[in-house]
Amino acid sequence: MSELKKIIEENESQVRSYCRKYPVVFTSAKNSMIYDEEGNAYVDFLAGCGALNYGHNNGEIKSEVIDYILKDNITHAMDMYTTAKGEFIKTFKEKILDPKDLNYKIMFCGSTGTNAVEAALKLCRKNKKRSNIIAFMGAFHGMTLGSLALTTDRTSRDGAGVSLDNVTFVPYETTMEGFDSLRYLETVITDDHSGIEKPAAIFLETVQAEGGINVASVEWLKGVERICRENDILLVADEIQVGCSRTGTFFSFERAGIKPDMVTLSKSIGGYGFPMSLLLIRDDLDIWKPAEHNGTFRGNQIAFVAARKAIEYNIFHEIDRQVVEKGALVKEYIEKEILPLSDKIFFRGIGLIWGIDFSKFDDPELSHRIADKCFEKGLIIERAGRGDTVLKILPPLTIFDYELFKGLDIIRESIEEELEK
Ligand SMILES: Cc1ncc(COP(=O)(O)O)c(C=O)c1O
Repeated sequence: MSELKKIIEENESQVRSYCRKYPVVFTSAKNSMIYDEEGNAYVDFLAGCGALNYGHNNGEIKSEVIDYILKDNITHAMDMYTTAKGEFIKTFKEKILDPKDLNYKIMFCGSTGTNAVEAALKLCRKNKKRSNIIAFMGAFHGMTLGSLALTTDRTSRDGAGVSLDNVTFVPYETTMEGFDSLRYLETVITDDHSGIEKPAAIFLETVQAEGGINVASVEWLKGVERICRENDILLVADEIQVGCSRTGTFFSFERAGIKPDMVTLSKSIGGYGFPMSLLLIRDDLDIWKPAEHNGTFRGNQIAFVAARKAIEYNIFHEIDRQVVEKGALVKEYIEKEILPLSDKIFFRGIGLIWGIDFSKFDDPELSHRIADKCFEKGLIIERAGRGDTVLKILPPLTIFDYELFKGLDIIRESIEEELEK
């Protein structure tokens, strides 16, 4: 074992997680390739869980950041006015929000996604003066106590140490086959004998990523919005993982033509893997008092620079179009090369987020063994969903086609070898 790996394992808390799945010491990376200290190369189908949509060490973003630092521009400024912040807001508004007719105020939250969810929870409750929130079975919204209360997976919830209250869970569109989840949602809200407190808001993922790549239909998303509008309930879209063009449009909710009242955005908004977290707020709902959701790292200047450049990069390189084209390649590959391996394999996805589902096998460890085999062959891939039975394909949106196919070939070979055993 390398000396550095030994030092990490002996000293870092037991809470460490991804390093247990990919137990090598990484040193460098470029776009969708990562290298370890022994010089082994890996295709990255994890992409920082969606924080690296523009790839590792994106050259165009990197030079802006280096230039900013070399000129001794300000690096930490609490939430004071800075050129970096002003330029980010101007670009984000002119290039993303305005063309989509989205009139949101922008709130900078503490640097992780979960902090945007916490802010959204507070602000919804403050606006509606109601404490209950509706979330969906299979949801993942973060690991701090408020967002954890909206997160369904049992292991994560068990870590809370206190009761996680004021949330009502209802089935997502795909949770129970043949079940009319919209009708159920509407009944829970409108029936004065449902026994459920009227919620301040519904928190929605248009694609449940950690939940197993469950893609909601346009009709269903429109239905959730309608129910919110008809019942004076706020709609919050959690775009932390599937925003920033992951599904082929900058915001994943665009395909349904819905307009959430609030939007949480993090991960790839920081452009270069830099931490950044936003809450977009419908203008009239922005009733915060100054400093009511304060924090030392609200507004990282380096991330502002990278985020501004990332938006320009996104538009210049037509990332949305590229995602749709590459997504079609992934779909075709799975249909032609992977589904024929067994009629127990299922798949789903959109844009550049796809899941290969092994839950129909009478073998709960199969997806685990396949992911391990992928890693041995040079692919970093994560699992998601109930029992972690879904292999999650989440490459950088900038991945080259030949690297995409290299990763897909590794998945196919790994499945073949595991099924042959
Ligand atoms: C949909 C969604 N919401 C919230 C979060 C929490 O973000 P963070 O891990 O940055 O706190 C995640 C993280 O994976 C996520 O996927």
